[in-house]
Amino acid sequence: MERNEMLNVALPKGRLGEKVYQAFERAGFPAEDVLSPSTRKLVFENPAAGVRYFWVKPSDVAIYVERGAADIGVAGKDILMEYRPDVYELLDLGLGKCRLAVAAKKGFTDSGDYTLRVATKFPNAAAEFYAGKGRDIDVIKLNGSIELAPVLGLSDVIVDIVETGATLKENNLEPVETVAEISARLIANKAAYQFKSPVMENVAAALKGALV
Ligand code: PRP
Repeated sequence: MERNEMLNVALPKGRLGEKVYQAFERAGFPAEDVLSPSTRKLVFENPAAGVRYFWVKPSDVAIYVERGAADIGVAGKDILMEYRPDVYELLDLGLGKCRLAVAAKKGFTDSGDYTLRVATKFPNAAAEFYAGKGRDIDVIKLNGSIELAPVLGLSDVIVDIVETGATLKENNLEPVETVAEISARLIANKAAYQFKSPVMENVAAALKGALV
């Protein structure tokens, strides 16, 4: 089968990606060795089922799909909010549920009369959230361990992913407000959708069935 005839699927590497792949498998689209711990391969295909999977960094899935290197992929709503890729969102998989939230040191209240320093991995989503409230902020873009910022006085608040809340708690922080509810979404390349929509919609429907 030619590359263009197969459905090219970008999966997010990691725990969420494993759950996502298992849903594809249950939906009738398995491929050999995808979850094998002993392989370093990144591409797996099953010509009979018409699928080819790639493991990519979760934050890169939308880039592969937007540029057409993958036809479909699975990305967190947080990434879609932050980078606004020009893709179709076909399905909410309901996996990887968490929220994007503002958090601060316990007892913090925003008096509103100074420029709020916001540390985050999601500068665009944070800027948009505060612009909607008419609040002046200074965004400090970090790449990880965001919870350290208010502890060390680098920022007043953070905008970050909260799943169980354990990371906040163990660093004496608390959630202040929710920016958005997050879950994994099935996304599609717009041009590929024009000629592969039947197979994409078929995969989306089968996935939906495999997730209930
Ligand atoms: C994410 C997020 C929080 C943590 C939240 O971090 O940025 O730090 O998970 O989970 P919890 O509410 O269940 O404690 P990640 O593991 O992606 O690492 P990072 O901070 O280095 O990005």
